[in-house]
Amino acid sequence: MTDGLANFFIFLGRFHHLFNHFPIALILLIFFIEFASRFEVFRKLKPAITPLLLLGTISASFASLLGFILYQAGGYEGDLVELHMWLGIALSVMILLTYLIRVVKISIEDDIKNIIYLSLLTITAGTVVIAGHQGGSLGHGKGYLTEFMPRSLKSIAGVSSTKTSENMTVINVNEAIVFSDIIEPIFQNRCLTCHKTSNDKGGLSLESPNEIQMGGDAGNSIIPGNSAMSEIVKRIILPLDDENRMPKGKSPLSEDQIQLIAWWIDEGASFDKKIKELNVSENIQSILKKVTANSVPEDEHPLVTIPALDTILVKELQDSGFHIWRIAQNSDLLRIVYVKFGDSKFTNEDLIRLKPLLNNIAWLDIGGSQITDEGMVHLSTFNKLERIHLENTGITDNAIESLVSLKELRYLNLHGTNISDASLETIAQIKSLKSLYIWNTNVTAKGISQLEKKRPDLNIESGLTISARKLSPLDSIDL
Ligand code: HEC
Repeated sequence: MTDGLANFFIFLGRFHHLFNHFPIALILLIFFIEFASRFEVFRKLKPAITPLLLLGTISASFASLLGFILYQAGGYEGDLVELHMWLGIALSVMILLTYLIRVVKISIEDDIKNIIYLSLLTITAGTVVIAGHQGGSLGHGKGYLTEFMPRSLKSIAGVSSTKTSENMTVINVNEAIVFSDIIEPIFQNRCLTCHKTSNDKGGLSLESPNEIQMGGDAGNSIIPGNSAMSEIVKRIILPLDDENRMPKGKSPLSEDQIQLIAWWIDEGASFDKKIKELNVSENIQSILKKVTANSVPEDEHPLVTIPALDTILVKELQDSGFHIWRIAQNSDLLRIVYVKFGDSKFTNEDLIRLKPLLNNIAWLDIGGSQITDEGMVHLSTFNKLERIHLENTGITDNAIESLVSLKELRYLNLHGTNISDASLETIAQIKSLKSLYIWNTNVTAKGISQLEKKRPDLNIESGLTISARKLSPLDSIDL
């Protein structure tokens, strides 16, 4: 499905939220008239029942259809949504039967017919109440009614306090805790049906921080500081038809959700840090704005003068294993990840293939690739580069010279390479650089302390600091 068509379906489907009020009101009205008309004052209303039932049948079917379109177009998922869908369909069938039993002449005794009719009507009305309430929870997030229940009452009622709305609303962005306010709701809504303690597909439960850190059958699912090598991220960016893609068999996560998860991991996958404690790129900032409740009107992204994207090339690259996103909605700057599934490897030739996009590539993840010093020379012309992953590659000190000309470079990941203290002197010249990852390299403590003196503004992850984190770097090196 093309984006335009998908968007149109979502647009159409969203009228479900408006339209579903008609069958709900109609069915409850019919139920009321049916019983009230037994009393003298309301007797006159009785003839209205049959036409109202027909109208109810039509509107319920139409509301279900819109709901189904919305569900198919994506954005909603999970047990609750599926149950809601079946309730909606059951409701449409039941009100149709109620109508039919009233109007179609069948040869059963009137008494029995009447009992069947009244039972059907009662069940239909009951279902509409349940489906309506449930739909409300879906629209407003599960626990809408109980969200502001006093804490003491919650514990008595056994209502959990965890947020489950996927599009969480953070009141104060900076004070929000990245994991519990942003990442966890995504896991809860899109992954937990298959990855919880009681049902851990692939041995992976994403229900608690401990379990997330334990990973799944394949080992760690998250490598703090390295989203591109983290199984979770690798899996959510696979092509739609790849059977390893997560959420398995369901609509993919939105680009924003993928970027938020990748950002959280790149920034160390902390479970308690606040947004203000992490590096927030312009791109993440604009995504965060969207998920903020009282968000200020979105600034226009400054117009960047870059050549129009070569869309044919982008398509070609995507087909050959590159994942390509725009880093912000109105920007032609790109994030490119080469996904290393199977034997395919990114080589120097692949970097040359990216050259037509050198004015567009802002993020490049080619960690674990077969790039060499020779190929690195080409990188010096990628002047829009802000983030680059070169970890676990065969590059040496000779390669680092090519990075000095990059005026926008903020993030550089070199862990698991053969660079030594010589590189640190070169790196000190990259004035824009904010974060440097150099654990498991040949650099020495002395080299690092010299760099720290020259560049106190630089955030260096050398293995000494990262080991203070919850996951030891040694666990994550043997990729
Ligand atoms: C409909 C069920 C389903 C949903 C939803 C789902 N997964 Fe999975 N997931 C699976 C199954 C089944 C496996 C094991 C088979 C496989 O490896 O493909 C798996 C495996 C994985 C693994 C590999 C674990 C390991 O160590 O082998 C990761 C990582 C993963 N899922 C992440 C996610 C994330 C992140 C989400 C939410 C965005 C998600 N999954 C949603 C069914 C699901």
